[in-house]
Amino acid sequence: MQELIKKYKTEVLSFKANSEKETESFRIKYLGKNGILNKLFNDFKNIEPSEKKEIGLLINELKNLIVSKINTSQSIKTTNSNNVFFDYTLPEKPKEIGALHPLSIVENKIINIFKLIGFNLETGPEIEDDWHNFSALNMPEDHPARDMQDTFFIQKNPDLLLRTHTSSVQIRFMETNSPPIRIISPGRVFRNEDVSARSHCLFHQIEGLAIDENINFSDLKLIIQEFVNRLFGENKKIRFRPSFFPFTEPSAEVDIYWGLKTETDKKITKGTGWLEIMGCGMVDPNVLENVKIDSTKYSGFAFGMGIERIAMLLYQIDDIRLFYENDIRFLKQFQSSHIM
Ligand code: DAH
Repeated sequence: MQELIKKYKTEVLSFKANSEKETESFRIKYLGKNGILNKLFNDFKNIEPSEKKEIGLLINELKNLIVSKINTSQSIKTTNSNNVFFDYTLPEKPKEIGALHPLSIVENKIINIFKLIGFNLETGPEIEDDWHNFSALNMPEDHPARDMQDTFFIQKNPDLLLRTHTSSVQIRFMETNSPPIRIISPGRVFRNEDVSARSHCLFHQIEGLAIDENINFSDLKLIIQEFVNRLFGENKKIRFRPSFFPFTEPSAEVDIYWGLKTETDKKITKGTGWLEIMGCGMVDPNVLENVKIDSTKYSGFAFGMGIERIAMLLYQIDDIRLFYENDIRFLKQFQSSHIM
């Protein structure tokens, strides 16, 4: 019997599988129900007790050898008829990980900065009524300022529209909360404009609002300066330019000096190096009265900015349409951008 086991051992040692099939028949030959190993174990029952120890060891050794032969053969499998091998034990290719959309990256950055300064997140509906989008913001019907924002109205109900700005969330929040108020509201807005490299009928804004006793314009300037420092870096120059918005008085627009280092800079800043990044101002007392906040006791500031513009500047994107086309080659470039 010892001789027989030795013979099998040499056979097993010299076995080399060229295909999965060969490994399988090897397995059946040795480990199958009617295989060699089972036969050996059967014969084992009838041998002299004095031989049992030695032969038992030999059979077990043979069994381990067979099992390890099968295991190593299984990791090498034929992939095609040309007998090309590859190692199945190699680690798999890395999985494709999705990326945050550049607008989400920038939106998250802005939200986080304002959260750190003490603002809370609030959102409102994209389908808005006339009151929250216009009238309460000091733009009554027939007010010429309504022309500044070409509006998509909902045909079946002329009182409903796609919000033209996130300023509508100010009104919703103030109607149901009393000062002190500090909120920021990101979201999609819609305007009936021709689509081009610079403008789109859909874009994103972030609105900010702070209402309390004794808030004045210098508070607004401080918050905006702090925000710019944190988003763009300490050394960026900004300027407040007098402007007009019906819901703020006085009103201003904030420009940032970005420079003209690249072609994209030239395009986005129209060759000036300056880019308007937001509108802002002191909340008009009429707005406060519209939401039943005592304008003799409380004052506040508001601001609104477009996310696309800031993202275009930060990532040097010179066509706004790229944000909405979902071209995988464009989106892939943001895979390594961190989530703040
Ligand atoms: N809602 C304005 C727009 O879409 C932006 C804006 C300007 C918001 C001034 C404000 C503000 O809160 O104070 O053009």
